[in-house]
Amino acid sequence: MNTDYNPFSLAGKTILVTGASSGIGQCTAILCSRMGARLVLAARNQERLQETLNQLNEHPDGHVTLLADLTVQEEVERMVAALPPLNGAVLCAGNSTTLPLQFGSREKFDEMFDVNFFAPVELMRLMYKKKLLQKNSSVVLIASIGGTHSFMPGNGVYGASKAALNSVMRYAAREFATRRVRVNSICPGMVDTPLIHRGTITEEQLAEDAKRYPLGRYGNPDDIANGAIYLLSDASSWLTGHDLVIDGGFSI
Ligand SMILES: NC(=O)c1ccc[n+]([C@@H]2O[C@H](COP(=O)([O-])OP(=O)(O)OC[C@H]3O[C@@H](n4cnc5c(N)ncnc54)[C@H](OP(=O)(O)O)[C@@H]3O)[C@@H](O)[C@H]2O)c1
Repeated sequence: MNTDYNPFSLAGKTILVTGASSGIGQCTAILCSRMGARLVLAARNQERLQETLNQLNEHPDGHVTLLADLTVQEEVERMVAALPPLNGAVLCAGNSTTLPLQFGSREKFDEMFDVNFFAPVELMRLMYKKKLLQKNSSVVLIASIGGTHSFMPGNGVYGASKAALNSVMRYAAREFATRRVRVNSICPGMVDTPLIHRGTITEEQLAEDAKRYPLGRYGNPDDIANGAIYLLSDASSWLTGHDLVIDGGFSI
């Protein structure tokens, strides 16, 4: 019996992960390295990015770190210019806000759309246009069930940015298929990362909210990272334009 069979292997692939300094992006980078990938890590915070780098499995070609604020056009362009040819990208950098719609001014929408929508869309556009995404490569956008469901009060501004991202994902999947580049998204439910512990929702509210999940808990970063590995790997080579909901059954 051949025990080496592993359609989820990422050996031989170079994969960009944005938001690699924390939470879902950090975990995705670490698990992708365990699956054999060479990583390009991106975020703004050098120290935290270094912590991620320290946790990667070694790769013969070495991993790469790139610092960029993805809401700043020049920094996106500088980062794209420094990228090696890629076989995959997980565009995870993002933010959230809990804000009743009556306080959702144009400024608040702009802030959220800048980081959650315009940043990944511009990065994906440039990577495709400059032919950095190799044939059979896979782009994974991290969206949210906030974009598909009214999952918690006060998430309209956030949810709109993620719904827009999912819409572009489908068009990109159709257009990029001509070069055999796949584009999918993951829509996580609530995942236990620093993002949800910033005080806008109290720890008591979070514990109460977790009870609404049929599988009895919030997600862990590896629940999402493992989905990303599937979408990056050749196991999903006939899948494009799909939003993969990973939410412990919340949206049933
Ligand atoms: N946690 C959840 O419940 C949940 C649920 C659904 C979807 N999501 C989505 O999952 C993604 C990751 O979230 P997380 O929970 O892992 O959050 P997190 O722990 O706060 O990590 C966010 C990451 O994004 C990076 N980032 C933020 N703004 C950036 C900018 N302007 N330029 C470059 N990088 C930036 C941060 O790095 P630096 O600060 O170093 O730049 C950090 O690495 C986000 O898109 C989020 O909306 C999260």
